[in-house]
Amino acid sequence: MKFLITGGAGFIGKWVVEKLPSDAEIVIVDSLDAQVHGSSIDFEPELKSRAKCIKADIQNIELYTDLIEGTDVVIHLASQTGTGQSMYEMSRYIQQNVNGTAKLLELVSKLKRKPHRMILSSSRAVYGDGAYTDGQKILYSCKRRLEDLQNGVWEVCNDQNNILKSLPMHEDHLTNPTSVYGLTKLWQEQLMQNYCESQSIDLVSLRFQNVYGPKQELSNPYTGIIGIFTNAIAQGNSLELFEDGLVTRDFVFVGDVADAVVECALYQAPLSSTINVGMGQAVTLIDVVETISEIVGKPANYTISGRFRVGDVRHAIADMSHYEALLGSWSPTSLKDGLVQYLEWYLDQKPVSHETLQASFQEMERTGLLLSKQG
Ligand SMILES: NC(=O)c1ccc[n+]([C@@H]2O[C@H](COP(=O)([O-])OP(=O)(O)OC[C@H]3O[C@@H](n4cnc5c(N)ncnc54)[C@H](O)[C@@H]3O)[C@@H](O)[C@H]2O)c1
Repeated sequence: MKFLITGGAGFIGKWVVEKLPSDAEIVIVDSLDAQVHGSSIDFEPELKSRAKCIKADIQNIELYTDLIEGTDVVIHLASQTGTGQSMYEMSRYIQQNVNGTAKLLELVSKLKRKPHRMILSSSRAVYGDGAYTDGQKILYSCKRRLEDLQNGVWEVCNDQNNILKSLPMHEDHLTNPTSVYGLTKLWQEQLMQNYCESQSIDLVSLRFQNVYGPKQELSNPYTGIIGIFTNAIAQGNSLELFEDGLVTRDFVFVGDVADAVVECALYQAPLSSTINVGMGQAVTLIDVVETISEIVGKPANYTISGRFRVGDVRHAIADMSHYEALLGSWSPTSLKDGLVQYLEWYLDQKPVSHETLQASFQEMERTGLLLSKQG
């Protein structure tokens, strides 16, 4: 089988390439974006030995039509991925993520033989704040008011100031992104759905939660909170936890995510579905920091700053029942086991300077997106 992987030189892409069958023919199109790959101008030798690697922006993908002809499955991973950054570099995110996807579809429309399946790496960001309940009904668009955040009221409340309960994100829930990044991921889903339906191409949109694990670029300060925490703890630097440190996320190990992508890529029957991919468990940021600290064997010097990022969601966790109904049981790697694997890899990497991260925070402060609790 022939696979086209856009963004195949990135974190998740490298794992997908590794997990595809050894006889698969693979073409990678990746711009080797400097924010992700630093000064690297060429693909890593392991990728070059396994795949035909094309260095190009997907907005120019039509130049490579001949090399892509005959593709059976497209795995579309190329995207700009910084949620916070997307709030002040809107046009770049829209260009690369939305226009890039449109250009990919234009290319597919010109192929003599169409792929039978396309897989999109979407994101939990499409759900925005997600769904809440007051114990009786499902509630959407339960936004945290700026004045509440400034007063240190972190949980989502109803008009009577009662705390609402967050629900696991389900594929049937309303999509309502709170960031430009989230909007671009939703537009990617909709563009691909629109095109694939018209051409009877089997589309699988996978909505990933927070992915972590070995091979995640450490030098990109806009993504990968586990890398940021690990850097600080391993180097003995102080660490800032936003809000009250009790924000929850669903951290899913990259090997499990790549398994899900490959499972869908090779699935024999049509899937035509949108599917969550998370560990299915919510963890507080304090728990994450303390687990990393225990594995590294160094204390975590963290402060709970009361600062907050505008647009951040309070809780995120995937409901994995749809995945299990379609594809069978889901047994994800535990956070502790995943972090042990991550730390083994991390210790062989060049440490990243504390200043890189601070600069990204300063950028958010300058643009009014990182605020402090008052008083
Ligand atoms: N990592 C996560 O936690 C996470 C969570 C949800 C969704 N996702 C999605 O999964 C996909 C892969 O994420 P990742 O963590 O591997 O990110 P990554 O930044 O490591 O990889 C993305 C790759 O795409 C390339 N790229 C970016 N823009 C491009 C363009 N216009 N043309 C060609 N190549 C381009 C980059 O050079 C990079 O190699 C993305 O679509 C992202 O939105 C990731």
